[in-house]
Amino acid sequence: MYPKDYSEFPGKNEAFFPDFLLKEWMVAVVFLVGFMTLVMAEEPPLGEIADPTNTSFLPVPDWYFLFLYQLLKYKWASGPFVVIGTVILPGIAFTALMLAPWLDRSKERRPLRRPVTTGIMILSLISVAALTWAAEVEHETQMESNPGEKPQNTKVMAQDDEGYSIYQQNACIRCHGDQLQGVNGPSLLGVGNRLSHEKITEIIDDGRGAMPAGMFQGNEQQKKVLVDWLMKQKQK
Ligand code: HEC
Repeated sequence: MYPKDYSEFPGKNEAFFPDFLLKEWMVAVVFLVGFMTLVMAEEPPLGEIADPTNTSFLPVPDWYFLFLYQLLKYKWASGPFVVIGTVILPGIAFTALMLAPWLDRSKERRPLRRPVTTGIMILSLISVAALTWAAEVEHETQMESNPGEKPQNTKVMAQDDEGYSIYQQNACIRCHGDQLQGVNGPSLLGVGNRLSHEKITEIIDDGRGAMPAGMFQGNEQQKKVLVDWLMKQKQK
């Protein structure tokens, strides 16, 4: 049972300095030493280490910052509103934390009798947990569908080629594959042996059979670079 409030301890108050502060410091020291021991004994649970040869690696902040990172993915807290996600919301949280002793001056000791403070605390914990969880789930799905090449995969096309990047940016890759091998559409390897420059341009413009027209979003110059590049991709 909690005593209702401190009025049941008449004359048992103590001076803030040095009595109370000393006790606080002692608790802090015990906590700090315990924490340092834990960190030395256990490897901290941090994320994957970045590896420049692994392009399938998706860097994300470590778990304790994931919720802030996730916040910045929402439309209302990113782009033109990024100040909301970076300054305003964290600012409100920290100000509230600092002002907490003045915001709730009730003498009640039971958490349930101080619904405002307790409510805010629980709400914050839930939001942090939910955001962390959402970020984790999103990261997992992205890792699974990540098109990046693992280091052991060596049969990569020259991806720094301008033609390739235009090909990739125009969704052609979805149907014709990242190696021109064909996925939902035919292979385009050696297409230059079969079709002329004009014919390929025409197919890109007007589509053909199951290939929709208007898949190409770039300008004429880029289209020419793309077709020139496709013409050069000979059958292996
Ligand atoms: C929605 C899937 C899809 C997309 C996206 C797509 N294609 Fe196609 N493409 C096809 C299909 C299916 C065919 C076979 C058409 C047919 O039946 O004649 C084809 C045929 C072609 C051909 C002729 C191949 C041959 O050997 O005759 C070329 C060239 C081509 N596509 C280039 C492109 C380019 C460049 C892009 C990007 C701007 C692109 N495609 C985007 C599905 C697609």
